[in-house]
Amino acid sequence: PVPGFHYVQGRLHAEGVALEAIAAAVGTPTYVYTTEGLTAAWRAYADAFAGQDVDICYALKANSNLAVIRTLATLGAGGDVVSVGEMRRALAAGIPAGKIVFSGVGKTKAELAAALTAGIHQINVESLPELDALSAVAVELGIDAPIAIRINPDVDAETHGKINTGRKEDKFGIDFAHAGEAYARALSLPGLKPLGIAVHIGSQLLKTTPFRRAFGKLAGLVRELKASGVPLSRIDLGGGLGVPYKSEDAAPDYHAYARAIAETVGDLGCRVTLEPGRSLVAAAGLLLTRTIFVKDGLHRRFLIVDAAMNDLVRPAMYEAWHSVVPVAEPAAGAPLTEADIVGPVCETGDTFARLRPMPPVAPGDLLAFLTAGAYGAAMSSTYNSRPLVAEVLVSGDRFETVRRRPSFEDSLTLEAMPDWLSP
Ligand code: LLP
Repeated sequence: PVPGFHYVQGRLHAEGVALEAIAAAVGTPTYVYTTEGLTAAWRAYADAFAGQDVDICYALKANSNLAVIRTLATLGAGGDVVSVGEMRRALAAGIPAGKIVFSGVGKTKAELAAALTAGIHQINVESLPELDALSAVAVELGIDAPIAIRINPDVDAETHGKINTGRKEDKFGIDFAHAGEAYARALSLPGLKPLGIAVHIGSQLLKTTPFRRAFGKLAGLVRELKASGVPLSRIDLGGGLGVPYKSEDAAPDYHAYARAIAETVGDLGCRVTLEPGRSLVAAAGLLLTRTIFVKDGLHRRFLIVDAAMNDLVRPAMYEAWHSVVPVAEPAAGAPLTEADIVGPVCETGDTFARLRPMPPVAPGDLLAFLTAGAYGAAMSSTYNSRPLVAEVLVSGDRFETVRRRPSFEDSLTLEAMPDWLSP
């Protein structure tokens, strides 16, 4: 059902490549991304915003693989980065500095200096101390800093608590009531060019109502600030548009989202920036895994697979739901049996799905976790001394390993044995 992935003669393919061929060549677990899926996601934005002056800065945190970034950059994406590491990845993948926005509550002076030196488009400042730090760095370098101030609009995004970011008790942005003071401070400090305002209320929003509420509040504030002489010419509305993870989830309406933007901030005379992450990459990726054992206990059937929470942490961290499908297409009318799908890591939290109705699965069978292109590999770790998960990009009939699985020796290279422990 997602562009880029489909069964051909009973075998799941990524575009023209059989996932079995990728598993044979690269091993499992492995993330597989399709160029077709990335392109389709980009087009959904491009179509919805055709005719509106909108810059789309891909939020690299969702998937920071260089080949994925470059695919989006080639289509026209800028980048939203939250660390100097992400900024360097954006530049390395070919996003010009002039299309990069730097967000985040805790940028160090070294990171601010790197951003100014690179000449990025905008730094989104989130606190008064950050204004002071940036001013000092800008003066020292003799480079004026183009800034937006991120405002906390105190709007509930009605999403999972851990990814709701614009309520007054969340750590992000400057309180709505302090906005005037923050701009006055920014205008009085040397080295700062306050020309924008920013907001981001959360992630995985399937409805546009919370966006409308936040953007409407922001529009009122922009009018007040402009009236008091703040020269605002840019408005950054963050990311957050969700994706359907379950087949019964309604896909968010991009045209309704575009209308919500046009109708709330369209007449402010400001250029709009968006920072989508998940919606550009989620559906374009799956996590390919092989079944190790099928364990039939007294109370449960467990499908024990070779992917684990270190490879895809979303179910453990946010109770997230990912669809799981066999790579060999089940026969029509195959019986479904409820099973828990779990990884090898020694924690009960290492559970991808509970009591999931599944067609027959045997040891050795390949399974795919769908809609895993966002916040999958990007959040992976080496917990339990498991190697960092591999990543593959497909284009037509071709595929390429775009991040190789480290060897055991690679994994030891950062460690050292102190003299007193050496034999
Ligand atoms: N801009 C800012 C300032 C953000 O904090 C975020 C995401 C984005 C843009 C991109 O939002 P998106 O379009 O992807 O919703 N790891 C979580 C999601 C964390 C999102 C954090 N901020 C997950 O796996 O659900």
